[in-house]
This record gives sequence, C-alpha cells and structure tokens, in this order.
Amino acid sequence: MARAPFAFRENGAARWCEEASRSGSTAVIVATAALWYPYVNGDTEGTEMTSNGYLLQTVDLRVSRENREILRGVNLVIQPNAVHAVLGLNGSGKSTLAYTLAGSGGYTPSRGQILFEGRDIVPLGISERGKLGITLAWQEPARFEGLTVERYLGLGMREPDHQRVEEALEAVALDRSYLQRYVDDTLSGGERKRVELAAVYAMRPKLAILDEPDSGIDTLSLNDIAQLIHRMATEGTSVLLISHRHEVVAIADVASLICEGVIVQTADPTTVCDRYACCCRPCDHVAPVESEAEYERL
Ligand SMILES: Nc1ncnc2c1ncn2[C@@H]1O[C@H](COP(=O)(O)OP(=O)(O)OP(=O)(O)O)[C@@H](O)[C@H]1O
Ligand SMILES: [Mg+2]
Repeated sequence: MARAPFAFRENGAARWCEEASRSGSTAVIVATAALWYPYVNGDTEGTEMTSNGYLLQTVDLRVSRENREILRGVNLVIQPNAVHAVLGLNGSGKSTLAYTLAGSGGYTPSRGQILFEGRDIVPLGISERGKLGITLAWQEPARFEGLTVERYLGLGMREPDHQRVEEALEAVALDRSYLQRYVDDTLSGGERKRVELAAVYAMRPKLAILDEPDSGIDTLSLNDIAQLIHRMATEGTSVLLISHRHEVVAIADVASLICEGVIVQTADPTTVCDRYACCCRPCDHVAPVESEAEYERL
C-alpha cells in the first residue's frame, strides 16, 4: 500500500488505510492530494485570544520552496462567516498559501505570523490546525480504492451523521446512488471535486480553504458550487476561495489579488476581477494598491 501522507494519520482516513492494508485490500492513494484533517466538531483546542474580530490574519508571511521565496510577505485578513476569494495568475502562490495556512509539511514559514482567532498557529501541525477547525480541499482531489463516498463523507465527523452525509451530497447536486460509489477513478474528475466539497461541507469547519473548487466543474454547474459556498458561510464556515473564474470570485464578499507571492490588492470582487483582467498581463504589480484603510472600509 502506498504510505498515507502524514495528514491522514490519527484520523479516520488513516485508520481506514491501515485497516485496508491489514486486510490486504488495495488501498492505494492514487493522487498526492489529501483531504482529511481531524477536525472535531465542537472540540477546539487552545484559548481564543484577541483577534480584532478576524478569524484569520497573516502578517508578513514568507514561505520558500527549493531555496526560492514563493510567498514574499503575505498580509491577509479573513473575517468570520465571510467568503474571501484569492485570485492570481498560474504560479502566483495561491496553492502555496493554501498549504501554508493548512499546515502542510514543507510549508513552514521562514518569517511572519498566521493568527487564527488571535492565536499564532505557525507552530501547529496540520492535525492540530484541523482540530482548531481549518480544513483544506486540495486543487487535485484524492482518489481511494475501496472507500465508498458514504464512508469518505463521514470520516471527518466525530459521530456518524447519516442525515448530514445525505445533505452534503445533495448540496453538491449528486443523488443518493453515489453513496455506494467508490472514491476512485470510476468517478469523473468533476464528480470527485463535488464529493470533496461535500466532505468539507459535512465537516462544518470554521475555515474551509477551497483550492480551485470549480476546476473540472462545467459552467452550467457553477451555480451549485456557488450555492454550496454560500451555504457554508451561512452555517458558520468562513471560506477562502481560490479560483480563476470571474463567476466564482464574484460570489465572494471580498477578494484579494495575489501576484508573485504578494497580495497587491484587497477590495470588492468586481474591482479585483477588473484589475486582474486588465492589469495582470502585462503585470503592473510594481504599483500595488493594497491598503489597510481600503480594506477596513469594506
Ligand atoms: N516544491 C516546490 N519547489 C519549487 N518550486 C515550487 C514548489 N512548489 C511550488 N513551487 C513554485 O511556486 C510557485 C507558486 O506555485 P503555486 O502552486 O502556489 O501556484 P498557484 O498560484 O497555485 O498556481 P496555479 O494557478 O497554476 O494553481 C510556482 O512558480 C511553482 O513552480
Ligand atoms: Mg494552485
């Protein structure tokens, strides 16, 4: 069996992988993506500290990979119950930001802070951040042989909640027949994306980081994704929404434009989308318009 990424340890998926391994079934992680973090409903660790009311704030966040600085001083604020979009060209650092916030291995900041409800979570690993309520849906969804959609959706829950599982599936416009399907390559790419989103929804995290949730989703179905994201926000989940699509970014409450690892603008989605369309190619980031005062007005 392929070794589970460390994010799977100490949680349902890890137990499932181990069981499958012992029983000799073919539990193979086909993609490198991992979804499940041990978010436990209502079981948050740590003491909530002063946070200016922000759910999450990064301060001068810097991350390097292979001796190259990818995030070069990211300052970002996410409000509670808000949908906050991040837009940027390929390679601008969006996924790196997502992994860093979730605490993925190899994405330890060289400098800066990540404050979650006022607490600096940089020292915390992915599992501990999961317990605080931070969940990441990866750009490339995971595939598992032998794991049904029903079990997959239930893995992040402390107690089995069949009704919530069904609600989650319905929220991504998949019918009940998918419950017994396997989360493997018999699902289409778009179906796997939907199942992954349903899994995040079922968990009720405080912060859902959705890395391109619309990739592989046809245009006519974008509305389903938009509705689900709004539903998350109304149920108490803040969403960090990474996307290239104007239609998807437009559903956010606020948007940030990232360029070469720096947030160069935070404003309403229309303003940010307009700037992205007009000014990112060729790039005008030499004159960033990021402004705390501007953001405070939103
Ligand atoms: N492990 C790594 N080693 C070296 N460079 C890396 C590594 N991971 C990412 N990078 C580089 O960091 C930059 C940002 O990558 P990232 O995946 O965060 O971009 P992105 O904004 O998510 O792009 P996309 O829109 O294509 O998903 C890219 O230039 C990428 O090549
Ligand atoms: Mg990416």
